[in-house]
Amino acid sequence: MNEWKMRPIGYVRSSYTDTKQVPKGLGTKHTLEGTLDVLPEFEEGLLDIEGYSHLFILWVFHRGGGYELIGRPPTDNRPHGVFSTRSPRRPNAIGLTVVELLKREGPILYLRGIDMLDGTPVLDIKPYTSSVPMDKLRRGWLEEAEKREAADR
Ligand SMILES: C[S@@+](CC[C@H](N)C(=O)[O-])C[C@H]1O[C@@H](n2cnc3c(N)ncnc32)[C@H](O)[C@@H]1O
Repeated sequence: MNEWKMRPIGYVRSSYTDTKQVPKGLGTKHTLEGTLDVLPEFEEGLLDIEGYSHLFILWVFHRGGGYELIGRPPTDNRPHGVFSTRSPRRPNAIGLTVVELLKREGPILYLRGIDMLDGTPVLDIKPYTSSVPMDKLRRGWLEEAEKREAADR
């Protein structure tokens, strides 16, 4: 089996220290601010990043472990395949979060929209340039779960 070794390029600093503190469920908006502290040896790679309002952060679910191919996310009471959810319990424990870049001070990126625990290792940063028009975007079971919840209210 092929395996790839990766190393953190930095760490998230956030006020979440326990998974229970991270807001969950339908309609959750992540507004927490925190930082991504990039390791000194990678700081040069941040050149020009200030021009972007939003970034993709790729990171590791370093707390916890194991995976399940079918699970019940907190956003629905129906089972779904892991690859149609954002579950932390996945074969490769990689998280992906879109954050707003508030400012940069040297190797420190100030971010809004954090859903990671304090000390989360970050594998990569990429500029967010996605522009899928709303009328082309399908949101699968999540959209159906939102409609069911709205009808129950
Ligand atoms: C549903 S996942 C989504 C994460 C990311 N936005 C994604 O889509 O990959 C977010 C949950 O991961 C958990 N979490 C955050 N940081 C973690 C870490 N470093 N290790 C393990 N679990 C973590 C928290 O319970 C949080 O509610």
